[in-house]
Amino acid sequence: MDAVLSIRDLAVEFKTDTGVTRALVDVGFEVPRGQVTAIVGESGSGKSVTANCIMRLIQPPGRIVGGTIDFVPQGAPPFEIVSLAKRDPRLLELHGGLISMVFQEPMTALSPVYTVGNQVAEAILCHRDVSRRQAWRESAEMFERVGLDDIERRMHMYPFEFSGGMRQRVVIAMALVCHPEVLICDEPTTALDVTIQAEILTLIKDLQRELGNSVIFITHDLGVVAQIADQVVVMYQGRVLEIGTVRQVLKDPAHPYTRGLLAAIPGLAPKGQPLATIASVVRDADIETPHPLRRLADGRRVSLPADG
Ligand SMILES: Nc1ncnc2c1ncn2[C@@H]1O[C@H](COP(=O)(O)OP(=O)(O)OP(=O)(O)O)[C@@H](O)[C@H]1O
Ligand SMILES: [Mg+2]
Repeated sequence: MDAVLSIRDLAVEFKTDTGVTRALVDVGFEVPRGQVTAIVGESGSGKSVTANCIMRLIQPPGRIVGGTIDFVPQGAPPFEIVSLAKRDPRLLELHGGLISMVFQEPMTALSPVYTVGNQVAEAILCHRDVSRRQAWRESAEMFERVGLDDIERRMHMYPFEFSGGMRQRVVIAMALVCHPEVLICDEPTTALDVTIQAEILTLIKDLQRELGNSVIFITHDLGVVAQIADQVVVMYQGRVLEIGTVRQVLKDPAHPYTRGLLAAIPGLAPKGQPLATIASVVRDADIETPHPLRRLADGRRVSLPADG
C-alpha cells in the first residue's frame, strides 16, 4: 500500500490526580495516500488523541510514551513525527501546510476580529512566498471551490456575519489553501444542523477527489463513515479494534463492538431505495437507513434524520 502515514505501536498517557490514564495503547494503522480514512469510535476512545499525535499537539499532562508515525509526503523528504525535536524545522513544515486540521467548532480556527478574506490570505502569506495580491486571488479561488458565492463581498465580512456552515467552509478553505498532503477533520460537522452537515461532508469528499489529498476523518457516526470513507479504523478504549475498507467494516464487521455500533444506527439505506453514496460501496449489503433520502441543493441525495 502507498501509505502517506504509517502509525505503529503508538502509546499515549495522561498523568492525572488519580493516576495514569492510558489514552492510546499500541495504536497502529496506515493512511493510504489519496483516500479518506475514517476513525470511528465512541466518546473517549482516543480518536482526537490519535489526531493530535500526528500533529504533535499532545500537551502535558499528556505524553507520547511509545510508537512511531512515519510520514511520507510527496513534496518533502519522509520523516518520523514522534521523534522530531521541538525545534526541528520539519515540525514547522508539518504545521505549516503539510498537514492541516479542521475542528468541530469553526471559531477555534477563526479570529473574530479579522475579515475571513484576510484570514485565508494570511494563511497563504504565512507559509508561502507570494505577493498579497496573489494570496488574495488564491483565497478568492478557494472560497469559490468551497461553495461560497458573492465572494468579493463575503471576503470582506467577519466570521460573526456568517452562519455555522459558512464558517466551516471558510475553515476548510483556510485548511486547503496551502495544499496539505493530509487533511485531518475532527468531527467537523457535529456542531452543524443535519442538512448543512451533509453539505459539508459532500464538500470534503468532492475536494478530496479533486485535489487528490489524503483525508483522516474522525467521527462517531457510522452513517457518516459510509458516506465519506474508503478505509475505516474502529477504535475502542484507546485501541484499534478493526481496520478495513468501508465495505468490509459495514457489511461484515469482524468485531462485536463494530456490530454494536452498526446496530445503533437502525440501518443505512431504505429497502428498495439504496442510498447512492452507500450503495456504491456496499452494493449488496443488507443495511437500511433510518432516515428518508433528501435532495441537497445540488441535486445529490443523502440520508438525513428529520429536522430538529
Ligand atoms: N487533557 C486530558 N487530560 C486527561 N486525560 C485526557 C485528556 N485528553 C484526553 N484524555 C484521555 O484520553 C482519552 C481519549 O480522548 P480523546 O479526546 O481522544 O477521545 P475521542 O475519541 O476524541 O472522544 P470524543 O468523541 O468525545 O471527541 C480520554 O478518554 C481521556 O482518558
Ligand atoms: Mg474527539
